[in-house]
Amino acid sequence: MTSLTASHAADLVAALLFVLSLAGLSQHRTSRAGVVYGIAGMALALVATVVLAARSITVGAVTLIVVAMALGGAIGLWRARRVEMTQMPELIAVLHSFVGLAAVLVGWNSYLEVEAHGRAQTRIGAGLLGIHHAEVFIGVFIGAVTFTGSIVAFLKLSARITSRPLTLPGRNALNLGALGAFAVLTAWFTVSPGLALMITVTALALALGWHLVAAIGGGDMPVVVSMLNSYSGWAAAAAGFLLDNNLLIVTGALVGSSGAYLSYIMCKAMNRSFLSVIAGGFGVEAPSCGAESQGEHREVRAAEAAGMLARARSVIITPGYGMAVAQAQHPVAELTRRLRGRGVEVRFGVHPVAGRLPGHMNVLLAEAKVPYDIVLEMDEINDDFAGTSVVLVIGANDTVNPAATEDPASPIAGMPVLRVWEADQVVVFKRSMASGYAGVQNPLFFRENSSMLFGDAKQSVEDILAALGTDGRQEPTPAARQATAAGR
Ligand code: TAP
Repeated sequence: MTSLTASHAADLVAALLFVLSLAGLSQHRTSRAGVVYGIAGMALALVATVVLAARSITVGAVTLIVVAMALGGAIGLWRARRVEMTQMPELIAVLHSFVGLAAVLVGWNSYLEVEAHGRAQTRIGAGLLGIHHAEVFIGVFIGAVTFTGSIVAFLKLSARITSRPLTLPGRNALNLGALGAFAVLTAWFTVSPGLALMITVTALALALGWHLVAAIGGGDMPVVVSMLNSYSGWAAAAAGFLLDNNLLIVTGALVGSSGAYLSYIMCKAMNRSFLSVIAGGFGVEAPSCGAESQGEHREVRAAEAAGMLARARSVIITPGYGMAVAQAQHPVAELTRRLRGRGVEVRFGVHPVAGRLPGHMNVLLAEAKVPYDIVLEMDEINDDFAGTSVVLVIGANDTVNPAATEDPASPIAGMPVLRVWEADQVVVFKRSMASGYAGVQNPLFFRENSSMLFGDAKQSVEDILAALGTDGRQEPTPAARQATAAGR
């Protein structure tokens, strides 16, 4: 077998491993296997690419590639070990920006290579030069949009710039104008390529990427991250065409299409159309009602909440971003075990965009070893809130906001939410009356059947555990007496 055939065979196997990886990652039970398939596919792809490259380049160049891979791998490993779960979306945004930048550099390199060697002497046949130029132009455009768009997403998610949308006058016309200009420039470049056109398309795409994401705010950021994931896939596929690398084309297409599908699922979960997300501007309006207009809220202490749980027949826990911040998943899992041990039916209701990244809550609950079969999706559990004794809202806010269904003027109107307020009693764990990610006040806090349990979610759950005693029966243990005395 020649090294070229072996390399193609390796590409095929790696592509299949990537497909298996995506399939595995779509379910809790198979997600570990999905990660292993992905790692195996990527390792094989890297080896195959270096071996193939080694046929046509010098030993020195191969050494440089291996050194760059080792350096990049070491930095990646270091970042992955240090990153907090809550910082994952911003890390993903930065990684997407690298893919975008790589596509821009590959495009420019490809253009300059053809120019340097003279168009007649390239490996590309004269008849295919026009197609090659179009590939260069499209690759640079998608890559540059992904690059600046991802940087803005990173800056917004890490709160380095405001997450409020930038609303320039005629912003949709600006975006459409940029797309129209790109179409005209592509046609021009295909017949008459030139440096000025390359510089123009790069600058145009960098500005468009920046503006597209700057115009998107608040609650739409999760869709933007997954949309940029999709763009980065298409940028990689475009680079694959330029580098004549089939595996990069297949992998880019897999990332591009799965990212687009994830964006669609998220838009559905937030009741937003994909086009309205792209058009941006969401979240500019002032919240429809402030805390003052909502009435009085009621506070409970941990010992009282423990009392409600001790008397409950059924409990649903709806976790949100605050559970991740507090790292409360382990005491929450322990609370679940204790209550189930007492014969209480305990289930979890997970909103598709709870937390800050797709599957965020599922990952945390799996880490704390909460059984998969009691962790239900919003659609599976929403009809069961009515008839449930107690709902514990642990660090969730926007995803349990009744204004989404009841106030057409609310900025989150139409977003499907967990209907926690239909339960007999609701206990909301948070530190203050502050609003959630979308900056919208939550009328749930002022309902008659709602009580606020203020404090860090982990501490509050630990106080409840102490108040419940070891077998789940509420007993005045020393820790409970301490928690009550401390006013928790
Ligand atoms: P949020 O609406 O973000 O609310 C989280 C709540 O947790 C806050 O109100 C905060 O209140 C509380 N909190 C923070 N730290 C806490 C702690 N240590 N202990 C107790 N409470 C704490 O959460 P959600 O319901 O999960 O909604 C998610 C939001 O994020 C949605 O708007 C969604 O669109 C957006 N988003 C989602 C994603 C994905 S893909 N899931 C990505 C980006 C953005 P206090 O400050 O008063 O404690």
